[in-house]
Amino acid sequence: MVDLTTRWLGLTLKSPVVVGAGPLSQDPDAARRAVEAGAGAIVMHSLFEEQLAEEQMAAHLMIDALADHDAEAGGFLPSGAFSMDGEGYLAELAALKGAVDVPVVASLNGTSDGGWTRYAVKLAEAGADALELNLYDIATDPAEDAAAVEARQAGLVAAVVQAVTIPVSVKLAPAYTALPSFATRLRGVGAAGVTVFNRLFAPRVDLEALEVERHLELSTAAELPPRLHALAILSARVPGLDLACSGGVHSGQHAAQAIACGAAVVQVTSATLAHGPERIGSILDGLRRTLEAGGSPTSDALRGILNLDRAPDPTAWTRLNYVRTLDGWRSILNRRA
Ligand SMILES: Cc1cc2nc3c(=O)[nH]c(=O)nc-3n(C[C@H](O)[C@H](O)[C@H](O)COP(=O)(O)O)c2cc1C
Repeated sequence: MVDLTTRWLGLTLKSPVVVGAGPLSQDPDAARRAVEAGAGAIVMHSLFEEQLAEEQMAAHLMIDALADHDAEAGGFLPSGAFSMDGEGYLAELAALKGAVDVPVVASLNGTSDGGWTRYAVKLAEAGADALELNLYDIATDPAEDAAAVEARQAGLVAAVVQAVTIPVSVKLAPAYTALPSFATRLRGVGAAGVTVFNRLFAPRVDLEALEVERHLELSTAAELPPRLHALAILSARVPGLDLACSGGVHSGQHAAQAIACGAAVVQVTSATLAHGPERIGSILDGLRRTLEAGGSPTSDALRGILNLDRAPDPTAWTRLNYVRTLDGWRSILNRRA
């Protein structure tokens, strides 16, 4: 019998297949079904910096408006005036903690250090077992260079890590010029792990209406290879960070591939939305079968065996692979000519 027990962010999980951030966490019954199917942990959907900033702004405006009329305005504030989304999120966290017996990871999503990060403390106090901090950052300012963006992001991570005692994992976008260096910097400011990668939701361009439409499609397995690449490099070159794979995991084979490249856990969002929370069970069955077929008694035994340091041909992960792959195509074309 294969042992799937996994350590991630200092937590012991019954399996390395985790429900990824998304709407499933908003339904405690769906989360319970995912856990019954074998999910090792649940990552909640995100609480966004903008939601909290709006909330703080609304509270300030209300205080200002009331203060104009009455010196004791603070006393008139309706209960919950500071709450709205933040309090709603805390209530969801409490409901989830009551529904499942696996770790619950809360998710904060933002780009700048500021007052909103105090919610990290509230989430920890409310029982979150860990935090995933999603750096969904779209650079649009030509005056802010890559170094400045990374410094700002590392500062945010440091602020959150310092504020809480629970582990913090950072969910990264797929585009960094020097990912191992940035991951090392995050480890230096106290991040316990990174999640690769965020999906940047690409809006659609409607030429008839001359509009840009919001658009969200579920993932396919085509999104997995860039994650495997990053995992293979990070697990070899930045030890001490727990790696989570997010994006394109739809089967047990995919989970096994991510673990072989160095992932501690795989996070699954689209597959559970497309097929229901029970999909976690079939992914786990597939993972068990793959481990059994490969003679690995545990998922730990598989972890990292194909990474940049341990793959039989490590150049498969590097530039040399690129050269050889292109060469292969050249000889196919030559044979055809
Ligand atoms: C409907 C939907 C909602 C999502 N909401 C969040 C979110 O609130 N926070 C977050 O970090 N990621 C969110 N994601 C991204 C997923 O967590 C995940 O990174 C991405 O979908 C890739 O994983 P997948 O291939 O398993 O779907 C969402 C994805 C979907 C499809």
